[in-house]
Amino acid sequence: MATDFTKYIASVPDYPEKGIMFRDISPLMADGQAFHAATDEIVKYAKGMGVEMVVGPEARGFIVGCPVAYDMGIGFAPARKQGKLPRETVKATYDLEYGTSALYMHKDAIKPGQKVLVTDDLLATGGTIGATIQLVEDLGGIVVGTAFLIELSELHGRDKLKGYDIFSLMKY
Ligand code: PRP
Ligand code: ADE
Repeated sequence: MATDFTKYIASVPDYPEKGIMFRDISPLMADGQAFHAATDEIVKYAKGMGVEMVVGPEARGFIVGCPVAYDMGIGFAPARKQGKLPRETVKATYDLEYGTSALYMHKDAIKPGQKVLVTDDLLATGGTIGATIQLVEDLGGIVVGTAFLIELSELHGRDKLKGYDIFSLMKY
């Protein structure tokens, strides 16, 4: 029987601000079998796309993307928040469901023409993933797919990702 992944998500009202229902993936990560099964679903999605690199935004995009890259035997490149990368970077700014931020990647993180899978734990407004895609494309990469554990459908992040393939394991 297919795994019901939603039972491993803790829903926390009014965090980090009033009116936000926070979808916490910690219980999923804490369960070895469920975490493995969720990773397998993303790998299954990405197989056959010719993916050469996985890119994920700080911090929860690392948690989702690294095991996928490991399983596929390919590399992972992080999109990091300000002041974290020691060498020359490219920058993209974005709006969040709560606040604004910027992400950076090393200029040599992606080779021009490389096929990239972009991963994160959650798609909300699409700002974070949009900025991550922008960074990959600024570096000459080709985003062949995007994968999330959770999609918050009512925030319409999908509308910001027109033209990109999207996989989400759970929808709220
Ligand atoms: C969260 C989440 C996604 C993003 C989704 O990250 O992990 O990256 O928000 O929201 P969006 O689709 O509206 O951009 P957050 O910025 O809270 O950082 P964290 O992973 O470091 O906690
Ligand atoms: N990132 C943006 N919105 C979020 C939410 N509702 N739950 C968890 N992470 C988020």
